[in-house]
Amino acid sequence: MPRRAGGFHGPIAQTGRFALAQAAGLSYNRVESKAAHGARGRAKVSADLSPIDKAKFVAARRAVDFVEDGMRLGLGTGSTAAWMVRCLAERIQAEGLRVQGVPTSSRTAELARSLGIQVVSLDEAKWLDLTIDGADEFDPDLALIKGGGGALLQEKIVATASDRMVVIADAAKEVAQLGAFPLPLEVIPFGWQTTKALIEETLVALDVLGREATLRMNGTRPFVTDEGNYIVDLHLQRIGNPRQFSLVINQIPGVVENGLFIDICDIVVVGHGDGRVEVRDINEGTVAEERIDFADMTNIFADLGDGA
Ligand code: 5RP
Repeated sequence: MPRRAGGFHGPIAQTGRFALAQAAGLSYNRVESKAAHGARGRAKVSADLSPIDKAKFVAARRAVDFVEDGMRLGLGTGSTAAWMVRCLAERIQAEGLRVQGVPTSSRTAELARSLGIQVVSLDEAKWLDLTIDGADEFDPDLALIKGGGGALLQEKIVATASDRMVVIADAAKEVAQLGAFPLPLEVIPFGWQTTKALIEETLVALDVLGREATLRMNGTRPFVTDEGNYIVDLHLQRIGNPRQFSLVINQIPGVVENGLFIDICDIVVVGHGDGRVEVRDINEGTVAEERIDFADMTNIFADLGDGA
């Protein structure tokens, strides 16, 4: 049953803030002024984020407002999702929320555990209230390309097993038509070259502009997913009919799953570098614009503290 036709119903660790920043690949300027010293005598930090990281951060911050006490949550993968995990950990710490998280990758599992979030498997949780994840592209129907981080298989399983999926993205991820971002396919290592050749042959009959397929590498070796598979990236430039594409490509033996998420995302929270966030709800047909005070967000680092 398509989700949109009714839907499926079915002690924060004292992690150093500079370690948090490093984990997110960000640089921070530490600002120590009289006014910046907190009540507990901790030095506050000012996050010197790029506009794109600010956009990711505000989207993540707004999205965790959807979390309610007692929820079972899907935790996405990627840099935006990593901010979401941190913002969630902050809410758990501040409000005593009791939530269970099902991570979509070993990276997210590690981060969530390190921040004191209770991690369970999907089989333990069985069904989820909400999944929050990033995306590489989203279109006006909230169809997505995902898998830039190589976690598309677990991400798709987890998002599909959720009552709602909220996508968090910076504004640059919005496209009129999917396909500029290379579409990842997860493939079985056995016979991958034959599978790739079959994929290339199949592309000839599909409504796409580009047809180059490349094996994703990690240095000199193939990139290996958490499931022990390879990724073939398809440079399609434009995907004319994503629904048809997804059905056809998944028929090829050896292809485990593709990075197109169709009728899975319910809400996208679009972040902007100036702190604006748009919340677009495809089911309600609503768009709401809000602003998040970026100054508030530095608390996430200051409150976690590094003992400074
Ligand atoms: C990982 C994903 C990510 O959600 C996607 O690549 C976006 O990543 P980022 O938030 O770092 O831009 O699909 O497989």
